[in-house]
Amino acid sequence: MADKGIYGIACVEGFMRMCMDGWDQGWHERNGGNLTYRMKEEDIEACRPYFHTPGEWVKMGVQADNLAGEYFITTGSGKYFRNVEIAPAESLGIVEINDAGDSWRIVWGLENAKPTSEFPSHFMNHSVRKAATNGANRVIYHCHATNVIALTYVLPLTDRDFSRALWKSATECPVVFPEGVGVCPWMVPGGADIAVATSELMKTYQAAIWAQHGLFTSGPDFDITFGLAHTIEKSAEIYWKVLATGQPILQTITDDALRSIAKDFGVQLNEAFLD
Ligand code: 13P
Ligand code: ZN
Repeated sequence: MADKGIYGIACVEGFMRMCMDGWDQGWHERNGGNLTYRMKEEDIEACRPYFHTPGEWVKMGVQADNLAGEYFITTGSGKYFRNVEIAPAESLGIVEINDAGDSWRIVWGLENAKPTSEFPSHFMNHSVRKAATNGANRVIYHCHATNVIALTYVLPLTDRDFSRALWKSATECPVVFPEGVGVCPWMVPGGADIAVATSELMKTYQAAIWAQHGLFTSGPDFDITFGLAHTIEKSAEIYWKVLATGQPILQTITDDALRSIAKDFGVQLNEAFLD
């Protein structure tokens, strides 16, 4: 079999596959969305032979002690998920974080490019989720999931309203995200302020919604992180289909039914969101 070089290494292959999966879903118009993966020691060693002389350190405007010295695979700013497979070295790359935990430098890829403009948000979310999961969390994903975005025009922008609407629109939801979802009011994307606001939500939730913009999900691997985004977006789509009929809702999943699901599946539902 032909040697695929760095593209044959599992973490890079999985990263690229997830980008194409997101593209196939229609969540990544133009350069919309971004993906980062915090590499394991064995990932770094497998990729190291492909590293070049590192670029300059670049400050991020955010800082995290628990990410000092880590390596991330990241999509590039202004790069299209659609092109990840045909132009990977321009569309994504690997960055190293400095000992102060406040700057990155490119060690592979991102040719004539730099990490996603949302790297500060990804970075702060990684920091919070790494701490919240004892190091298990490795993936942060941002997509422009259509039905989720549309809901931010008609539902009150509260964690409770969104969590309840999503839980009640598909029976699997309370099992997949029993803590609910966080909602961030509309903010200017790409900076430290939205990064800090989102990471505050990620202390409690695996997923956060950006009003009129998109969705952030987190997880230990690509399957679970993509699956979470897929589940949330699917549920939002069902909710829309129900609203679009204009019919009165005759039945839904009751709060007691939600409690029964939680009991049988052994998950702890966020009681603050139940009546
Ligand atoms: P980037 O191209 O910098 O990743 O930005 C896309 C995006 O979705 C901004 O929120
Ligand atoms: Zn975006």
